[in-house]
Amino acid sequence: MQILNTPHEVTELCKSWHAQGQSIALVPTMGYYHAGHEDLMDAGRTMADKLVVSLFVNPTQFGPGEDLASYPRDEERDAEICRQHGVDLLFMPKPESMFFADHATWVEVPEMAKVLCGQSRPLHFRGVCTVVLKLFAISLADHAVFGQKDWQQQAILKRMVRDLNIPIHLHTRPTVRESDGLALSSRNLYLTKEERSQAPKIYEGLQLARKLVQSGEKSAARLRDQVLAFWAREIPLGRLDYLTVVDKESLTVLETIDDNALLACAVRLGRARLIDNIQLSAES
Ligand code: PAF
Repeated sequence: MQILNTPHEVTELCKSWHAQGQSIALVPTMGYYHAGHEDLMDAGRTMADKLVVSLFVNPTQFGPGEDLASYPRDEERDAEICRQHGVDLLFMPKPESMFFADHATWVEVPEMAKVLCGQSRPLHFRGVCTVVLKLFAISLADHAVFGQKDWQQQAILKRMVRDLNIPIHLHTRPTVRESDGLALSSRNLYLTKEERSQAPKIYEGLQLARKLVQSGEKSAARLRDQVLAFWAREIPLGRLDYLTVVDKESLTVLETIDDNALLACAVRLGRARLIDNIQLSAES
């Protein structure tokens, strides 16, 4: 596995792979790997001849007062995990080699970025879209892999790729969970023992919603009330950021549940802000 730190070096290597007729899959990450990242790498490995992983804690997607400085990092362990999963190139740039001091170009999908996480993180998806588009350009990737836990992120990136005719295939992998249902996240590290014991109830609440829909519930408002009542009982330490039913592709907020309905949430538990989602239709 090669480790490179500058965009130029990565582009030169990826160009040489393309010149040899080899395809490239990219897994963009912010590091501190867990089984969810490993799944993205394994999926990427099957899609192309060469597998590139980027590890970059992107400052432009963190707002003031968020956890940029304390975001968990362990580059040595991460590099070892990449080796074990057959990564050909690990790209670990410094912030100054990704963003010039006078960086001035931003990519936005404003309608889709103003709902769900965008309500409390207004510039987050602008930072995500911009860095991901840069990573696509740097790595010349044919495929890129993202996780379903960040549903809004992958939906916005798909729209960006479609709208800007970017020649890349995006793939989304199912959320990897602990045995008690908690979605894996690097930020789970922030949970105290007591918070950790309540955290799986987030997904239990979403599953309850899905059962209600399967028994005929069509009203997003009633569904929300039931889940909030369950969480009030089961997650006394939790503070709701949002719980919203949206169309899973356009992210338009829905009043009535249909086959495309997705229930997405963010719940704060102590220092951690945990996100999760579930598709509400019976087939998914
Ligand atoms: O999902 C993440 O880890 C980040 O948002 C991403 C896609 C690597 C962009 O910084």
